[in-house]
Amino acid sequence: MSDKSQRIIRVFPETATINHHNHLAIAGCDTIELAESFGTPLYVFDETTLRNKCREYTREFNRVYSDVTVAYACKAYANPALVTVLHEEGLWLDAVSGGEMNIARFAGFPPEKVLFHGNNKTQDELEFALDWSIGRVVVDNFREMGLLQNLAAKRQRIQQVLLRLSPEVDPHTHSHTTTGVLDSKFGFPISTGQAEEAIAIAIRSSNLRLAGLHFHLGSPLFEVEPYEQAIKIVLEFASRISRNYDFTLDELDVGGGFAVQYLAEKPAPPASAYAEVIARSILELTSQLDMPLPRLIIEPGRAIIGQAGIALYRAGGNKTIQGVRKYVFVDGGMGDNIRPPLYDARYEAMVANKAASAPEEKVTIAGKFCESGDILIRDIDLPAIQDGDIIAVPVCGAYCLAMSSNYNAYLKPAVILVSEGQAKLMRRRETYADLVRQDLF
Ligand SMILES: Cc1ncc(COP(=O)(O)O)c(C=O)c1O
Repeated sequence: MSDKSQRIIRVFPETATINHHNHLAIAGCDTIELAESFGTPLYVFDETTLRNKCREYTREFNRVYSDVTVAYACKAYANPALVTVLHEEGLWLDAVSGGEMNIARFAGFPPEKVLFHGNNKTQDELEFALDWSIGRVVVDNFREMGLLQNLAAKRQRIQQVLLRLSPEVDPHTHSHTTTGVLDSKFGFPISTGQAEEAIAIAIRSSNLRLAGLHFHLGSPLFEVEPYEQAIKIVLEFASRISRNYDFTLDELDVGGGFAVQYLAEKPAPPASAYAEVIARSILELTSQLDMPLPRLIIEPGRAIIGQAGIALYRAGGNKTIQGVRKYVFVDGGMGDNIRPPLYDARYEAMVANKAASAPEEKVTIAGKFCESGDILIRDIDLPAIQDGDIIAVPVCGAYCLAMSSNYNAYLKPAVILVSEGQAKLMRRRETYADLVRQDLF
């Protein structure tokens, strides 16, 4: 196996191997056969990696803290089959829309284990949440709090809520994914007094029960210190507030944002590193501030699903501009993975039918969408690519399909789950008929 293949196979799913045909295999399934059977672009999720990530986060946080709930952030990617695996692994869910709640409901997920987030929840969505008996609504602003109180009162229900605060900590992520700073659309800022006012209103709202506080800093956070800073700010705030109001912090939800390794040379902190900093900060501060230990909620999305998923594309044409660059075109791109144009995200890749072969040329992998920005990977060294070769891109489980579009009226890919040599279709490829199904003509 070439050095390069050896380095990058580690960012593929845990079951990734190179078989005797020199093909990449996931969970014993030859990816070239998968591409033949299911077509390309194809998203392949490895059940073992997914379950192991659920177990790692659950284990590492429980090792250092006594009362932990791991709620998977559906926005990273959710479908009924995956949500069922997460339920089997004991995870809760964080949903941000009626659609995500509906995926969970459709899969038979217990509503009491779901948290509902979002900065502009509609009345319909709040009614859905209440009528489904959702576990927690994470209230983001004053308008939503009033609306929720009224809707809960009409149903003679007491809804458990958390309040989303913005602790004003810069997590050093891409500006599009930084959320916990003052100038953000999310949450009640602490420094302006709005967080205190929100607590006062929540306590007065007879159909809301304020269970605790939430913050989410951004994503992905390759540093662990921002969690420590935010926990200090939020716990000191909670301690001050509990002296003036009838408020006990039963639950502290520190959000998600745990990083994953996308590139061979850029490792991410392991779950244990986040767990240790978060647990230590809460334990030390609650002891200093003489507060009871809150139940800890974490909301990992990317860290649970990212590594489990890969994308398989088929190479088509190419274009060489002498002295400038060689483009290789694939049959997907920004419609199924918007992250490179949106966040300057970078990826590794492997030619799946030449998996162990040494790199021979530097190429830029471009998608087939009508945008010059539709570049999946710029300047990557790969074995020489021929028309029809299969290109595998690792760490595509999170925020790829979830943000996919039908731009250019292209069809969204099929999605499969692989385990122990078996492949199961989780979502069929779209058809042209799907694309016009909702149109009235
Ligand atoms: C409130 C909240 N929780 C959790 C997450 C999940 O983040 P990640 O997938 O990086 O863990 C997000 C991501 O935007 C979020 O906004």
